[in-house]
Amino acid sequence: FSCEEKMMWKRIQCFAKLNGYHIYLWERQSSLSLPISLSRKYSVKTSCDVDTLTVLGNSYNTDKITNVTPKILEKMGKNLHCKHNHPLNLITRRIENYFNNNYRNNWRAPMFSKFDRISPVVTLTQNFDSLLVPSDHPSRALSESYYLNSEYMLRAHTSAHQSDLIKQGLDAFLVLGDVYRRDTVDASHYPVFHQMEGVRLFSKQELFSHLGDTSRVTFFENGSRDATKQERHTIETSLCLEENLKNTLRNLANNLFGDDVEMQWVDAYFPFTHPSWELEIKYQGEWLEVLGCGIVEQEILSSAGADSRVGWAFGLGLERLAMRLYSIPDIRLFWSEDSRFLDQFNVEDPNTKITYKPFSKQSPVINDVSFWVPDDFSENDFYDIVRNIGGDIVENVELFDNFVHPKTKRKSKAYRITYRHMERSLTKREANEIHSGIVAAGVQQLGIQER
Ligand code: DAH
Repeated sequence: FSCEEKMMWKRIQCFAKLNGYHIYLWERQSSLSLPISLSRKYSVKTSCDVDTLTVLGNSYNTDKITNVTPKILEKMGKNLHCKHNHPLNLITRRIENYFNNNYRNNWRAPMFSKFDRISPVVTLTQNFDSLLVPSDHPSRALSESYYLNSEYMLRAHTSAHQSDLIKQGLDAFLVLGDVYRRDTVDASHYPVFHQMEGVRLFSKQELFSHLGDTSRVTFFENGSRDATKQERHTIETSLCLEENLKNTLRNLANNLFGDDVEMQWVDAYFPFTHPSWELEIKYQGEWLEVLGCGIVEQEILSSAGADSRVGWAFGLGLERLAMRLYSIPDIRLFWSEDSRFLDQFNVEDPNTKITYKPFSKQSPVINDVSFWVPDDFSENDFYDIVRNIGGDIVENVELFDNFVHPKTKRKSKAYRITYRHMERSLTKREANEIHSGIVAAGVQQLGIQER
């Protein structure tokens, strides 16, 4: 794969290992090379029949790209990661403790500064440009993120704050917060989730301190870029950063999950790091991607006034780690306010071993729908409608048939929607009503035609 082609594909499963090679099953990304310049859709405009939106106390003029929905706005400001006794808060405290106990500066103070209250409303510049995300990168598509207007959006990752914090002169920090992405509907995807970003920058002395005499190693060069390094980095710089980064994260994973947790590094691509990796851990027999990381692009550091340093960065998904750590089976549970959920995490010591015990086993109602779609149909628009109308009652949406009429070339899709309330039973009638509401909204807002 070239880098560009690789952006369009997602590796979903490793099904064999042969002579030391991994053989993967790949799936084409939903956001297929959708250049923003072609922004083919001005998306679901449910919330945007209004001229201004008030978000966390500030108002924003809406415009033709506004696509944030009321359901999403409702979630803002909840700061689950700061709520005492919430599983996201417990895991956050464990990760912070790991960094504070293992990384101290010369004055024995914690090396990493922590930021957990930065507003999730960011500019497109912060979310994309400051991180060298190309103007035609698929992640900029309207079908991927929530936009307040052409200038502001809800951050799609905590990486959006890297550049600003480096500009402020920080060289080791953690950023925690809620992030927003338009996505599929299933047990491990939710349009709002939480990430922790970590960045560490090094001077030459710091990076090579283990060598004692650092005069014989070179930090920078005017070389060329290859799979192992950037053009400005020497091979020693790159390998040393890689080792430092992977050790830090491997020890973190062992600290959270114990020494015998199964994990694997997978080569990855991010516009803001090179080389880049993802760490996957085994969860219920499957590899679960829990973080992305890499060597920070030197151009980001030079734009932020830190060109004499080099560094690594990572972004980890807190829900996924917490699901694995506490055996929480469904990502919607993190939003539950039911005491039968929250009380299970009511402990003082974040190191207390907790295994979540399901408090209610409701049976699901499953309904199928199949419809003809217009040419510019985007799956994420449909998922947003499902979430707006069904809310957390929808457990899963599965595309089970994708059909193109041989003569007319019209496209049809069939989805299976699983409805299940996590806290109480749901009647067939209630589920059917929601289902009809979803179909009606699809007809009205997306121009689908039921078959
Ligand atoms: N921002 C990436 C994401 O949300 C994760 C990530 C990858 C963060 C590499 C980083 C990094 O800081 O260096 O998928």
